[in-house]
Amino acid sequence: MKRIAFAVIAAACACGCVQNEDEPLKMITEATFPPYEFMRGQEIVGIDVEICRVVAQKLGKGFKCENVDFDSVIPAVISGKADVAAAGITVTDDRKKNVDFSIPYVTTGIVVVYSKNNPYTSTEQLKGKRIGVQGGTTSENYVLEQLGQEPERSRSPAEAVAALKAGRVDFVIADIDPAKNCIKGESDLSLSDFITSEDYAVAIRKGRPELLKAIDETISEIKADGRLAKWIAEYTAEADRLKDK
Ligand code: ARG
Repeated sequence: MKRIAFAVIAAACACGCVQNEDEPLKMITEATFPPYEFMRGQEIVGIDVEICRVVAQKLGKGFKCENVDFDSVIPAVISGKADVAAAGITVTDDRKKNVDFSIPYVTTGIVVVYSKNNPYTSTEQLKGKRIGVQGGTTSENYVLEQLGQEPERSRSPAEAVAALKAGRVDFVIADIDPAKNCIKGESDLSLSDFITSEDYAVAIRKGRPELLKAIDETISEIKADGRLAKWIAEYTAEADRLKDK
């Protein structure tokens, strides 16, 4: 009887559904989103990476981080390819149907990036215009649901802003922090105020209460002891320096 139970567990491990104790904690992200995650040479760094590294430490596990398209981040935790999805992911009701979210670690939102020779005035003005977004994001949802039209999808906020500079789109919608980084040093581009309010949290496969508890504890601790604020300041500065180069 025992042997059968063991065989079942071993089979489950092979398909990645049950996590092995000795396995590192696997984070999945999309690293074009400074200061939350971006590339320092070949290395993925940023606030989200720091958060997940602390979760791994708390669980006594090693740590690994992988970079995929934003569309594939949440599917990776659902399939068991990764344990934690941390990518400046906004908590939404739709996503909650498929994954569990930690407590939020940041409250932020999306903004409109515009060219000063085509100033942005109100969301009304966006209707019928070509709007660039990073695919799979809440900015895409905003264009689909609030404006009732198809956006121009890019693989990163920076690529969307490059399309704006080249005149291929009229406006870009993106999360404020990567948007700020994108317009750094671009004297002809500017940002609107927030057009939404959004909370970022870490997403995991449903039904992993211990992992969720470790993430929630981590977030409470790093907020309380100032580590989160310190990472936000440090990684914002580093991403801005990389933009200057
Ligand atoms: N907050 C937005 C969302 O959840 C955008 C996140 C994009 N993150 C990234 N790492 N590219 O849809």
